Amino acid sequence: MKGNEADRRVLSGMRPTGRLHLGHYHGVLRNWVKLQHEYECFFFVADWHALTTDYAETREIEQIVWDMVIDWLAAGVNPGSATLFIQSKVPEHAELHLLLSMITPLGWLERVPSYKDQQAKLKEKDLTTYGFLGYPLLQSADILIYRAGKVPVGADQVAHVELTREVARRFNFVYGREPGFEEAAETAVGRMGKKSQRLYRDLRKRYLEQGDGEALSRARAMLDEQANLSLADKERLTGYLEGGGRLLLPEPEALLTESPKVPGLDGDKMSKSYGNTISLREEPAQVEQKIRTMKTDPARVRRTDPGNPEQCPVWSLHKLYSDADTRSWVTEGCTTAGIGCLDCKKPVIDAIVAEQDVMRQRARQYEEQPDLVKAIISEGSEHARDQARETLDVVRSAMGLGYR
Ligand code: TRP
Ligand code: SF4
Repeated sequence: MKGNEADRRVLSGMRPTGRLHLGHYHGVLRNWVKLQHEYECFFFVADWHALTTDYAETREIEQIVWDMVIDWLAAGVNPGSATLFIQSKVPEHAELHLLLSMITPLGWLERVPSYKDQQAKLKEKDLTTYGFLGYPLLQSADILIYRAGKVPVGADQVAHVELTREVARRFNFVYGREPGFEEAAETAVGRMGKKSQRLYRDLRKRYLEQGDGEALSRARAMLDEQANLSLADKERLTGYLEGGGRLLLPEPEALLTESPKVPGLDGDKMSKSYGNTISLREEPAQVEQKIRTMKTDPARVRRTDPGNPEQCPVWSLHKLYSDADTRSWVTEGCTTAGIGCLDCKKPVIDAIVAEQDVMRQRARQYEEQPDLVKAIISEGSEHARDQARETLDVVRSAMGLGYR
């Protein structure tokens, strides 16, 4: 793995809204499973986020949370590779949220598109609350508390990552300019070995004098490897590289997940609120029954009517699940009425059932022993807390609250 700590670290959260379905699998979880091998990943259940809109119905949240974690595990998210935790088990998120709220102008929050959009969409709920307005800032705290450089999100969340960048920048600007910064940075340079000192100065000069970006990333990477520097010194030296003050909170970047279109049973996007889903741990008989009754090209009324796959949601599933041979069999058979829709659906049913066999198997032990899930989460939450506390120490001191 290359780059500095932040560039290697991925954080993402998911609201507990109910049982996960194929839309979540192809849109989010498959990507998490891939990322967990490439980055240091933190994935969490955003239970406080759920409260920002569903504060009035919290009775089922606990069950939903545990089921969601089992769905993650079933999909192949591996607690040996990624840190899995629950937001409310890491109260440091809340403290950072509070501290960041001090420097966040109201206008920044009111301008986040989801604020007005969701209020208009969820009319039955009163979302003129403090918690709802602050929800994107809570998300900023989620990200910044781990100093995560990469945040895999869908397009609807990019504005929140953007807000996070602005908040981090403002924080660094307001609190990163300690008196005597240059001297502190020079002292920190002196704490490195002779060879590293020389390399650091050389790379810094190349960056500051020639704007050499390669030198900047090399210098960041070498700082990261310095075992004998405190986190505070690392920040100083990172900030010093760019000439300014300490870089207290790194600005994250959205990793835009390109999610394939997963059609629901009625042809609309698969979504819980449309009631058109196939859940991740659906029984095979249910999968079969749901797909057999799934919408097809409306032009194929009778078996003898030719169809057009492009007009058919089943075709979108073929694009996700079938190989080239099967797909040309579909195109040929559909457009010539050579096959019936039930024939066409068979390979999709088989592929989904086979994919889910693995998931149901993985899930079984957790369903039978819920304590295993709790142990994974408490271990993950502990590890997350350790990381969160480090950041919070830096933040508190930078804000003048470092007294004990
Ligand atoms: N707001 C996200 C959603 O509703 C969930 C979330 C909360 C999140 N905190 C996060 C995602 C931090 C990425 C990073 O889907
Ligand atoms: Fe859709 Fe397949 Fe039927 Fe064509 S044959 S309409 S692609 S289900």
